[in-house]
Amino acid sequence: MMIKQINKTVTDEGIQRKERYANRPAFSREDAETAIAHVLKKIDQNLPRFTEQFPAPCTTNLRYEATENLEWTPGFWTGMLWLAYEVTGDMKYRKVPEIQLASYQERIEQKIMTNTHDLGFLYTLSCMAANKLTGNQEARTLALKAADLLLERFHEKAGIIQAWGDLTNPKQRGRMIIDCNMNLSLLYWASGETCDPKYKQAAYQHILQALNYIVRGDASTYHTYYMNPESGEPIKGDTHQGFCDESCWSRGQAWGMYGFPLSYLYTKDEHLLSVSKKLTHYFLNRLPEDDVCYWDLIFTEGEEERDSSAAAIAACGLLEMVKQLPVLDEDRRYYEHAAIKIISSLSKQYVSSEDEAEEGVLLHSVYNKNFSHGVDESCMWGDYFYFEALVRMTKNWTLYW
Ligand code: GLY
Repeated sequence: MMIKQINKTVTDEGIQRKERYANRPAFSREDAETAIAHVLKKIDQNLPRFTEQFPAPCTTNLRYEATENLEWTPGFWTGMLWLAYEVTGDMKYRKVPEIQLASYQERIEQKIMTNTHDLGFLYTLSCMAANKLTGNQEARTLALKAADLLLERFHEKAGIIQAWGDLTNPKQRGRMIIDCNMNLSLLYWASGETCDPKYKQAAYQHILQALNYIVRGDASTYHTYYMNPESGEPIKGDTHQGFCDESCWSRGQAWGMYGFPLSYLYTKDEHLLSVSKKLTHYFLNRLPEDDVCYWDLIFTEGEEERDSSAAAIAACGLLEMVKQLPVLDEDRRYYEHAAIKIISSLSKQYVSSEDEAEEGVLLHSVYNKNFSHGVDESCMWGDYFYFEALVRMTKNWTLYW
């Protein structure tokens, strides 16, 4: 494949309020362990209901309904159980993801709602994690099948993975989205497992096209971008979950802040780390006083809802960058402090109570404000990334991604 190279210049705002992140925030190991104990308590409360079935993507009145393995989110629940197993060593957490393999097998083999780039989210945190942690070969086979299906979504001429829907669907054809940055690890991993470069080449081409078109010149991001799969030419950016087409959806920016460093990890292309730094500055410069973003970065104060899940994803991205940047990088320590500040703020003001009626871990997430869906609720990916960030802060954690 002839790789289309970077054709984009992205400006860097720098961190505008460096004093906010100059000192290490007061958040101790004990604080993190207390926060982890709360996550484990919520997992324990939910575990009896969610073995054969999975939590819905978000809560309704703070309760997770039970669903089949149909949505884009079951992997977050399975991933939380793997994290719980890693931090406790308790087999009760390992047993459930191993039972759930049958469900992931049925889904991939019968192609149940697999017309989506979310195969990455689904199979990275379930089967790829199982294989990495326990060497489970059945899980490896399923993750490789998912990688094959994900690769089928690659439009060679445009150099992108189509996000949603059938490849012939005129409304979705050639549409890529920033969330997909997180789904590329499955492809990089598959190349490592099979020694076939085709998965990695597609993932690398996609991330370069995301940099070229989804990232704007000011280091904000479109949620989605249409390419012409026949000519390979760019068409236009728009939004699905953001405030408007030209605003910057907070969770999308966070997917970028975490996803670009993940592609850097597998490709060592320095441009990917560099663009992630610029996205990060745009994000940090728009945080309100408590460091938890509004659901769209067009809002920096006022009555709009926060999206605690975007904050948790961003914190994981910051912590990943801290791992990958050289010690002498001038922004590295600000990123570390910003991540701790965000997680500290979430742990103090955004977590559920011990009441079993509050089934999520993080409160105050927004799934899709435009559709009035999951507004000011808990969501599975918010709970997962908050837990991942806490584990990252307390353990030398090997990525599932
Ligand atoms: N990937 C879908 C979302 O972030 O809502």
